Amino acid sequence: MLINVNTIIKDNDPLVRQKSEPVALPLSNEDKELLMDMLTYVIESKDEELAEAKNLRPAVGIAAVQVGVLKQMIAVDCEIGYDENDEPIMATYALVNPRIISASAKQTYLKSGEGCLSAEVDHAGYVPRSMRVKVEGYDLLQDKMVTIRAEGYLAVVLQHEIDHFSGIMFYDRINQMAPNAKIPGAIMIE
Ligand code: NI
Repeated sequence: MLINVNTIIKDNDPLVRQKSEPVALPLSNEDKELLMDMLTYVIESKDEELAEAKNLRPAVGIAAVQVGVLKQMIAVDCEIGYDENDEPIMATYALVNPRIISASAKQTYLKSGEGCLSAEVDHAGYVPRSMRVKVEGYDLLQDKMVTIRAEGYLAVVLQHEIDHFSGIMFYDRINQMAPNAKIPGAIMIE
């Protein structure tokens, strides 16, 4: 599937608010292809030249609903730290039916707020998330069921993408009365 800025579904489309359905395993070839196309998007979108040439907006994650398919699939490619050579360490997943099986009471939020490929305008404000989540699902890259223990930024990204299955946009979670009020007890991620 061709995925670029023009084909990604925006939040003025009611589809974004619909629920995504679980996907049958083993994956059909069609689902495999779609999920790999989604992953290719998030990886290539961070390469300036490719992004320019293919009309991609940088992203760390995407959910199938954003390309118009109401299936519980997400692709994630985000930086989770640096190795001893100062090279970024990436967390990369192509997940089918991921679900949060536990989440910490401890909260976190990104200092710069969140963004989404389906949101064309900025929505400033802190988005409260669990600091740690345990996510279970099938990872196409590893071709097996996995349990991901995510913390900090990766935990935020997984929660953001899984929210899309319920038709929830990140800005639904911003306190509209006080979007940049400190969230008590939460850890801010720079
Ligand atoms: Ni999003």
